[in-house]
Amino acid sequence: ATAISFHGTRQAGVLAPQQPATHLLAFDLPRTSAAADRKTLREVLGALTGTLATAASEAPADPRLQSGATTRLTSLVGIGPAAAARLRLDVPASLAVLPAFPGDRLDPRRGDGDLLVQLCAADRWTLTVVAELVAAAARSAGAVPRWTQSGFMAPTAPGTTPRNLFGSKDGTANPDRAAADQWVWGPSGAHRDGTVLVYRRIHMDVAGFGALPEGKRDRVIGRRAGDGSPLSGTAEHDEPDVYAKNPDGSYVIPATAHVRLASPRLDRGARMLRRSYSYDDGPDDRGLLFCAFMRDLNQFVRVQERLATRDALNPFVQHRASAVAYVLPGAGKSGTLGDGLWT
Ligand code: HEM
Repeated sequence: ATAISFHGTRQAGVLAPQQPATHLLAFDLPRTSAAADRKTLREVLGALTGTLATAASEAPADPRLQSGATTRLTSLVGIGPAAAARLRLDVPASLAVLPAFPGDRLDPRRGDGDLLVQLCAADRWTLTVVAELVAAAARSAGAVPRWTQSGFMAPTAPGTTPRNLFGSKDGTANPDRAAADQWVWGPSGAHRDGTVLVYRRIHMDVAGFGALPEGKRDRVIGRRAGDGSPLSGTAEHDEPDVYAKNPDGSYVIPATAHVRLASPRLDRGARMLRRSYSYDDGPDDRGLLFCAFMRDLNQFVRVQERLATRDALNPFVQHRASAVAYVLPGAGKSGTLGDGLWT
């Protein structure tokens, strides 16, 4: 395996094949004056660009990253909606703090933030070391740490879909490259190589869901746990047909099934790129770090409005933290992340 370059028109943390482990870090800016915070943000982005580029290189300077194995570190850096508004940064118009959804139990100490960094790598060691370098760089440039969260993925053969803690294949119906150009990356112009990240820390009642009979679990999701195939089809990558009916007139994919309510067919084809991880934070808190990338934040809002009120998964899940960020376009070899923010 070779290192994945930090440099490029788009940040590698969105595009590179999903890595087994993740670590997210959020920071705030000090909130002095808008002018002073703009200066701080510039310095923080400069420091992060240098730190992340070095950490991802073939020969990272830190001895702890010289294990002889290639870490395949990838990263992404994003700007939160409150900071973007306060500092009048050039971000997509849809970027905003999310509305409250029914059932939300959000802990502000585990969510939001002016600056979001997501690290992904093959192993936890690399993430811990790089997270420390990132935090030191951001701090010395003036940012204030807000929260961190680590996550992991089920062992998954290349080209196959990872399972979440409910046992379902999760990430099957993701956009292909052409659909991603339309629904994930910005429109032509300044935001073409940027995207909007929605992060939700979702607690899962693994035992409660597991206690349902298998057929019931499959009807909650709308797909078969075994092979991930939709109830309307036979193979994992068959598109769920939300219009298919049983002889008695009921829907094959039940009316409140998760994949029906999240279906692009209810949303003029809109798709988000989901790259979620699992988390395990003690004896009674396990779940999903839902991470989805999209052109327009309203893509998430429309789906979550349907899910929050009707999803058959709701008795088994609870949204406990939330963050939104504009994932910046990538930086070329001589560039700095955020070069396009300063209008
Ligand atoms: C599909 C699980 C939360 C949006 C799926 C699938 C599973 C799943 C098993 C089917 C396989 C796949 O296509 O990936 C979960 C679990 C959640 C959760 C366990 C909470 C713990 C959410 C949230 C959203 C969402 C919060 C967005 C608001 C979607 C979308 C699809 C999907 C867009 C694809 C639908 C399609 O194109 O067929 N989810 N999900 N999910 N989910 Fe979720």
